[in-house]
Amino acid sequence: MSNDRVSALMARGAAFLGTRTAIMAGAMSWVSERHLVAAISNAGGFGVIACGAMTPALLDTEIAATKALTDKPFGVNLITMHPALSELIDVCAKHDVGHVVLAGGLPPAGSLERIKASGAKLICFAPALALAKKLIRSGVDALVIEGSEAGGHIGPVSTSVLAQEMLPEIADQLPVFVAGGIGRGDAIAGYLEMGAAGVQLGTRFVCATECVAHPNFKKAFIRASARDAIASVQIDPRLPVIPVRALKNASSELFTAKQREVAQQLDEGAVAMGEAQLQIEHYWAGALRRAVIDGDVENGSVMAGQSVGMVKKEEPVADILATLMAEAETALAKRG
Ligand SMILES: Cc1cc2nc3c(=O)[nH]c(=O)nc-3n(C[C@H](O)[C@H](O)[C@H](O)COP(=O)(O)O)c2cc1C
Repeated sequence: MSNDRVSALMARGAAFLGTRTAIMAGAMSWVSERHLVAAISNAGGFGVIACGAMTPALLDTEIAATKALTDKPFGVNLITMHPALSELIDVCAKHDVGHVVLAGGLPPAGSLERIKASGAKLICFAPALALAKKLIRSGVDALVIEGSEAGGHIGPVSTSVLAQEMLPEIADQLPVFVAGGIGRGDAIAGYLEMGAAGVQLGTRFVCATECVAHPNFKKAFIRASARDAIASVQIDPRLPVIPVRALKNASSELFTAKQREVAQQLDEGAVAMGEAQLQIEHYWAGALRRAVIDGDVENGSVMAGQSVGMVKKEEPVADILATLMAEAETALAKRG
């Protein structure tokens, strides 16, 4: 079956990304490294390297290694609170990375200008309409709107509500990619019809054959259903932590203990709020590594979105993309 209808709806997003399909694979720390990123881009999607807590030297190596595996476009996701953000931007510029995705809040002063001066297109996350308008005024090239169904760090509002509130207002101004909770092509078709230029999926790509995540991590995904992917709970009102969606396991208690420990340090004046929040972020990075790399899916953090129930088996990236495109085409064809 040809994918003419869905390809037509994806044309703007695909042109922006330089790809065949407007399907981005959202950056996932420890998961989105050279192999998965290159496989996605080679199969016609848009892979994004997760820089996470990497040093500039490590990011340099990872970009070079990804380039050795694909000649197709891919992006790099940088976290705004990384202490070496400027150097990481320089590394992307050195490699002529075409698209930089900034996650973790509004771009810090000067970063937007520096990324754009390198010739890269800048993609940001917009958690609300007012912020989307502000980002558009400041000159970002595209936006991702991500709902609370997603895996990893999440905002409070669902994808379906964000899409309804934001797409009619901003989709004609710049490409908007919808993320969070997308497991099948039917949903992709729906968001494209609502004005999205494309979509971003994370959870659905974790069990790709090319993904280096530990077999235990993949097995946990294949076994889980939507209701197992739950958001973390904040225990201390003074310590605002961004919720993280992950599979239910013993790590919830470990996170509660970590919050208590950091809250106590705050009480004693041993750390300032910024440092306290950074400690929480380091905790997550370590807990995710434990699950993804070491395979400890009991005590590590198995970050996953609610679409995890639609992940049924390990399969090549090309098959996942082909399935999503075929499902989207079938859904559109049913409309007549
Ligand atoms: C294991 C995991 C790790 C993630 N790490 C990051 C990250 O480092 N940076 C980021 O911007 N988003 C991260 N995300 C979010 C994804 O990029 C993507 O936006 C999200 O998975 C989309 O929602 P879905 O999981 O419902 O498909 C992560 C998601 C998962 C499941």
